Amino acid sequence: MPDNGGNSSSKDFHLDVPAAGEGFFVKGASGCDWGMKNRLADMFNSKSGNTVMLAFDHGYIMGPTSGLERLDITVPPLIPYVDVLMSTRGAFRTCISAAVKKPICLRVNYDSSVLFDDMSNGGGIACDIRNAVRMNASCLAVQTFIGSPGEKNSLELLARTVDAGTDWGIPTLGVVAVGKQMERTEQFFLLATRMLAENGAQVVKSYYCEGFERVTSACPVPIVIAGGKKLPEEEALAMAWRAISEGAKGVDMGRNIFQARHPAAMARAVGKVVHEGFTAKEAHEYYVDILNTSGE
Ligand code: R5P
Repeated sequence: MPDNGGNSSSKDFHLDVPAAGEGFFVKGASGCDWGMKNRLADMFNSKSGNTVMLAFDHGYIMGPTSGLERLDITVPPLIPYVDVLMSTRGAFRTCISAAVKKPICLRVNYDSSVLFDDMSNGGGIACDIRNAVRMNASCLAVQTFIGSPGEKNSLELLARTVDAGTDWGIPTLGVVAVGKQMERTEQFFLLATRMLAENGAQVVKSYYCEGFERVTSACPVPIVIAGGKKLPEEEALAMAWRAISEGAKGVDMGRNIFQARHPAAMARAVGKVVHEGFTAKEAHEYYVDILNTSGE
C-alpha cells in the first residue's frame, strides 16, 4: 500500500483543459472503443488526418490485372510510400512478407467474377473474423452494391462484418461498388456512402464525383476514394487533389499507381497531395523530377 505520509494536497485539476481522448481525429470515431481507435490511428496519419491506401485486391474478381501479373514483384517496392495495404488474404499470404510494418486492410468478401454480366448478383464472406484476426487485419473491407440486385445480400455481409469487427475492435471499410445500371452521380454517392456509414462502416470507399464536397459532408465517417481506371498521371493527381480539397480523407488507389510509368514515384506523388497539401501541378512536377533522376 502506498505511504500516505508527506504528500502535499493536490490542487491543480486543470479545470480549463478538456480531458485527453474525448475527441478523436478520425471523423465519426469518438464513440468507438480504444482498440478500434488505435487501429484507425494506424491507418490515418494523425498530422494530416489522411491516408494513402494501396489497393491490389483486383485479382479477387478480375484475375491478373495489368500491372499485377506478379504481386510479389509489383507491390513490395511500393510499400514504403503508402500507409495501408489493401488486398485479399491469399495475396498477403503468398506475396507480402509477414514482417511488413504497414497495417493491412483485408478484403473479406468474395463476389462473382467478371465473367458474369452483373457481378452484384452474389457474394459472401471469403475470410471470417477469426481468420482476419489471425491475419492481424487492421481493417475489414466489404463490397456493397447499392441500387443493384445484390444490394440486400451485400448489406447483410456489411452488417455481419461490422458486428464481428466491433467485437474485436477492427474497423470495417464499406466499399461502394457501382453496378452496371448505376450512374456515378452525386445523388447516387450521397445515398450509397451515407447508407454504408449508417449501417456501421467506420470508413467508406467511394469514387470521386461532381458535388463531392456534399457527399463527404453528409457522410459521418471518413471517405477514401478509389482511383478507378488508369488516367494520365497528372489527371489522377488532379482527381486526388480535388477529392482531398473537397473533404476526402485519403485514397485507396490501385491502377493509377501500379500502372503508372513509375509506380513508386506515383505513390510518392499521391502522398504529397494527400499528406502535404501539394497541388496536382506541384505533385506532377515532383513525379517528373523522380522520373528524370531515375532515368526511366
Ligand atoms: C474495388 O473493389 C477494387 O477491388 C479495388 O480495390 C478498387 O477499385 C481500387 O482500385 P482502383 O484504384 O484500381 O480502382
